[in-house]
Amino acid sequence: MKTIVSGIQPSGTLTLGNYLGAIKNFVTMQNEASDDDNIFIFIADLHALTVPQDPAALRKNVRSLAALYLACGLDPNKSTLFIQSEVTEHAEIGYLLQTITYIGELERMTQYKDKMQKQVAGVSSALLTYPVLMAGDILLYNADYVPVGEDQRQHLELTRNLAERFNSRFSDTFTVPKPLIAKVGAKIMSLQDPTKKMSKSDALEKASIFILDQENVIRKKIASAVTDSDGSIKFDPVNKPGISNLLSIYSCASNTSIEELVEKYKDSGYGEFKKDVADAVVNLLKPIQEKYNYYLNSKELDEILDNGRDKASYFARKTLSKMKRKMGIIRKK
Ligand code: TYM
Repeated sequence: MKTIVSGIQPSGTLTLGNYLGAIKNFVTMQNEASDDDNIFIFIADLHALTVPQDPAALRKNVRSLAALYLACGLDPNKSTLFIQSEVTEHAEIGYLLQTITYIGELERMTQYKDKMQKQVAGVSSALLTYPVLMAGDILLYNADYVPVGEDQRQHLELTRNLAERFNSRFSDTFTVPKPLIAKVGAKIMSLQDPTKKMSKSDALEKASIFILDQENVIRKKIASAVTDSDGSIKFDPVNKPGISNLLSIYSCASNTSIEELVEKYKDSGYGEFKKDVADAVVNLLKPIQEKYNYYLNSKELDEILDNGRDKASYFARKTLSKMKRKMGIIRKK
């Protein structure tokens, strides 16, 4: 029996990076899981609040992400799908874990430093404590594995440290989770600056492919992806970051190894290669988009989220009360 936990922030439209680095792996793990495994996949709306959000847009984005999870193949009979804020234990464990987290270790987080730099005025204190909330998300369910993209590795390391710290201070309580980071696809890069991660919040629209982009938009974005003048199709992220990124995308989208693709395109030019990458991405995303529209307007969506909330709450309550008891937050012994 194993437990798998992961989440995604409902901040704007999801990118191909979110799909290949995270959701695709959630679905694979779900489909390979046995009946007694527990999989919790949630919508990290509390995390989204660490930067200013328009309330109406946030509400819409939460629903949209729920529909997207289903459209991508998450099955509510196998995975518990829920909204983070509806299981209030997340906020509570976040606070309790803050009491054993050092400010210095939070200030060292690269994502915090990056976001801090971008957001000149009014940085919320929640942006600093964000990784503690994330640790709580994972420890609440005693996760064994956490499938994430490369950019979450440092947060997982902190989660492991907090679990070990708590266990040694208050006796064995939490499972120390392991990150699951795919070999290919864990860091999809911007199409316009392939030395930078593809991101939902990139100001340059054509830098990212969004899961809900129309076919012609996807084709245009891939055709105008930045490459190099060398002309050969090889996997070399240092010297050929643009082509290497397209190879990673193509490999994940078509379930073909990078070696096979390099061999296939050894005599081809960039134009032909890019066209085939675009075909693979369109073929991948089209069925998801069709199912997305179905789920977004379906009645099942609320029922699935209600059931997910109830199931997740059951597990979360148990862990939290154990944790509080160990910390002395209990009236009677
Ligand atoms: P978020 O919402 O930024 O991203 C969701 C997932 O997508 C992955 N990802 C990428 N993978 C490959 N290439 C990219 N360009 C790319 N961009 C994003 C991320 O690594 C992530 O797996 N803090 C998390 C959400 C979270 C969470 C958790 C995750 C909250 N609590 C508990 C796991 C467990 C985040 O902001 O992800």
